[in-house]
Formats: sequence, C-alpha cells, structure tokens
Amino acid sequence: MNHGKASAPAKVILFGEHFVVYGSPAILAAINKRISVEAHTIIHDENKIVIRSDIGVAGEYRNNGKFNAVEGGSKAKAVLDPLYGAIRQVLLMRNKKNIGIEIGISSRVPTGIGLGSSAASCVATVAAVDSLFQKIPSREKVCKLAIESERLIHKRTSGADCYVSTFGGLIQYYSKSKSFKNIETKESLSLVVANTGIKHSTSDLVAGVKKFKETNRSLFESLSKQATDICLQACTAIESGKCDKIGELMNENQIILQQIGISHHKVRDIIDICSKAGAIGAKMTGAGGGGAVIALAASKQESNKIASHIKAAGYQSFKVQIDYKGLYV
Ligand code: MEV
Repeated sequence: MNHGKASAPAKVILFGEHFVVYGSPAILAAINKRISVEAHTIIHDENKIVIRSDIGVAGEYRNNGKFNAVEGGSKAKAVLDPLYGAIRQVLLMRNKKNIGIEIGISSRVPTGIGLGSSAASCVATVAAVDSLFQKIPSREKVCKLAIESERLIHKRTSGADCYVSTFGGLIQYYSKSKSFKNIETKESLSLVVANTGIKHSTSDLVAGVKKFKETNRSLFESLSKQATDICLQACTAIESGKCDKIGELMNENQIILQQIGISHHKVRDIIDICSKAGAIGAKMTGAGGGGAVIALAASKQESNKIASHIKAAGYQSFKVQIDYKGLYV
C-alpha cells in the first residue's frame, strides 16, 4: 500500500502526574480530541522524509538526518524531531530504510498545555506509517515505538501518555511494569478542561521536579506515598461512582502538585473559578507550569455552567468526554 491513515486521542491525567515518572500509579483518560496522520510513500525521492502539520510547522529530513524547515522556523525542528524518529523506527523495524515517506498531521488538540498532543502525534504517526507495510499494526508495537520516539524530546517519559492514547478509555497506569488496567466507571464523569494560556515544556518541568526530589528527598518520598494513596482511593471511588470522593481527591492531589512547585497562579485562579461555579473538584492536569486545568462537575448541566464561568473570566474552556476507541487505523 502507498497510503496509510491513523488517528489517536489526546488525554487528561486525573491523578498521579509527575509521581508516575518515579513509579507511582496514575489515572488517565483518553479524550474526544484527536490527532490524525496520513502517510504516503514518496516514489521519486527515496531519501526524503517530509512532515507537515496544520499547527504551522513543516520540514524535510534527508536520509543523513539533515533537516530543512519549510514552515515554522526554529520551532519546527523541536516539534518534528520525535515524529521523524517515529518514522525512522518503523522503517527500521520493517527493514525499509530506503523508502521516502511524507506525512500530513491534522490536530484538534491544543499544544503545550498537557493534553498529550506530542504522544498522540507519535502514536498516530507510528501507526499510519506502519500501516503502509502491515494492514493492522499491533497496538503494543505502536505504543512501544511511540514511547521511544517521545523519549527523543522527553527523555524521562513514564510512557503513560502513549499508553492511554493507544489503548483509549480510563486507565490506571503502572509505570514500573509498563502496564495498565481499564477502570470501569459506575457513573459517567462530567469533565471540563480550561486552558491557562501558558504553554510549557514537559521535559523542563520533569527536570525541575527531579531537582526538587534530589534536594527534598524525604519530603518527596512522603508526597509520593500520598500521591499513590490518592490514586488507589480514586480508582475505588470511580469504580463505585462516588463523585464527591473523586472531587475531594482531585483537590488533595492539587495540593501535592503545588508542593512540588509545578502549579501556577493562573491554575489557582481557574480552580477558584471552578469551585465557585460548583465544581466538585479541580486540579492541574499533565506537566503543569500553567497548561490545563481539569474540573469535575456533578452533571452535564453543571459542566456547562462551569465552562461558561471559566470563559467569562477570559480563559478557553471546553467539555470533554472519555474516548474509548483509542488508536484506530
Ligand atoms: C505528562 O503528561 C505527564 C508527566 O507525568 C510526565 C510523564 O508521565 O512522562 C508529567
């Protein structure tokens, strides 16, 4: 085949970000915002890999790795390098090193705010390119290669984002064993996302937390234990449909994240707005340093109210649903 296509969802982290990098569990949900990738083989130039994205970056790589930005200037290389890595890994795996590839990415996911756009792009890129050689690529293989590609820009990645993007649903992820379990929800969760408008680099924030851990060893250990306990309680609360308890645990998780220094005054501002508008719980989601906030509402109606209060304060906001499909090709 000389044409392939794949789509993968973004995510929110409900519990356990950052601590998951050090072996604690995390709870994540794939959300109904997707990234699609179309892949073609290039017939007349076997030594070229071309990547275009509708977020305003495009570039060409030669076989020797030499990069030429076509759109997006110096920003292009940082965004496209993991995707180039993803394509090269698939070509290597399929023993097709000398094939030219062009991919086009369309994204419905805001970038740089912790919703997993980079992981979803890597997952969809690996699957779209692999589908040129294999009718139905294996999800396990796609996930593994996507994590390795993401590692090119975020070397300490726990792998959580790629897992939830590949397999979809609401999952509890165990970074130690690189495995997960699906969480069955008794009540559907009414979730609202708000954007602080402050973009971040995940790897810088993860490096900051590492520094915090090294200078505050016993405090970090105690916070890790609390984060693990919160995550385990949250799993039970979700399974038994205890929304008040889930919200309470989200608020507790937020306090821990503030203690490791990755929150932001705009996150606090949005959490206060959510709480005044009736949210059961709210916290930052993902790497932090600004980024996105996730709030839990008591019902769909309440989530409309929360989203409109956030918008009235000048922040972007949208409701999200859990995506159970994950990657599809
Ligand atoms: C980023 O979405 C989540 C972090 O926990 C990093 C990771 O798990 O790799 C901050």
